[in-house]
Amino acid sequence: MRHPQPLRSLGAEPQAQQQQPPLLQAQGITMRFGALQVLSALDFAVGADEAVGIVGPNGAGKTTLLNVLAGAFAPSEGHVWFRGADVSDQSAADRCRAGIARTHQVPRPFLGMTVFENVLTAATHGAGLPAREAGDQAMECLRLCGMQGLVNRRAETLGLLGRKRLELVRALATQPTVLLLDEIGGGLTDAEASELVDMVRTIRSRQIAIVWIEHLVHVLLQVATRLVCMDGGRIIASGDPRAVLADPTVVEAYLGGVAA
Ligand SMILES: Nc1ncnc2c1ncn2[C@@H]1O[C@H](COP(=O)(O)OP(=O)(O)O)[C@@H](O)[C@H]1O
Ligand SMILES: [Mg+2]
Repeated sequence: MRHPQPLRSLGAEPQAQQQQPPLLQAQGITMRFGALQVLSALDFAVGADEAVGIVGPNGAGKTTLLNVLAGAFAPSEGHVWFRGADVSDQSAADRCRAGIARTHQVPRPFLGMTVFENVLTAATHGAGLPAREAGDQAMECLRLCGMQGLVNRRAETLGLLGRKRLELVRALATQPTVLLLDEIGGGLTDAEASELVDMVRTIRSRQIAIVWIEHLVHVLLQVATRLVCMDGGRIIASGDPRAVLADPTVVEAYLGGVAA
């Protein structure tokens, strides 16, 4: 079996700081779509007790990195490890069963099903729970995310915010060890954003590691223990969130030359 090399590059600090190997780790990830190279020899790791925020301009490769971690895309080069095992050849479904859950930037609910049925399906197939436990698990996740009043609504009648929330509840119902979130906060009011922050904090208090791609930096700052900035398929900065936002390379690439 292949083992990860000790990491020194940006985005991979947990290896150096922790005695434990990172929970989820990607190494040497290059992703090409035809002639287009979207990720370039990228190293990334998240520790079990981390909430890592990922920022970067559109097209930086953030969603592609999430797809590689979750197993939706097989990278052109590189490997992914989860809990110390090489999962590079595992399907997205197998990785979900193992404890890697993700949300999609454009929500993908099962249309024609109710909110409850959507979450129940995740608890049954994602977490592999028997029917009764899956039902309990689905209701607990719905309550946690404030969606218990919507259980009988059909998914297609939800607005964008409702669909984003449902994405989060469905991911949570698979009983993950690490939750990968892709821009779940877009279009939220301040009140909704603070609800979302509370939700993600509650999830974290259940020993679930978070990787959260988000353009709402002020929201990320309330949760992230580390911030990573991507640009052009590479990680250009990683570390203390405020230090990363003050990094001149990040200011230039992401913040349009204006410090946050
Ligand atoms: N399945 C795909 N096929 C071809 N090109 C893709 C595919 N997915 C993403 N890309 C391209 O990869 C680049 C990075 O996209 P993405 O990872 O979505 O960036 P981000 O999430 O940072 O905005 C973009 O140029 C995008 O068009
Ligand atoms: Mg994206």
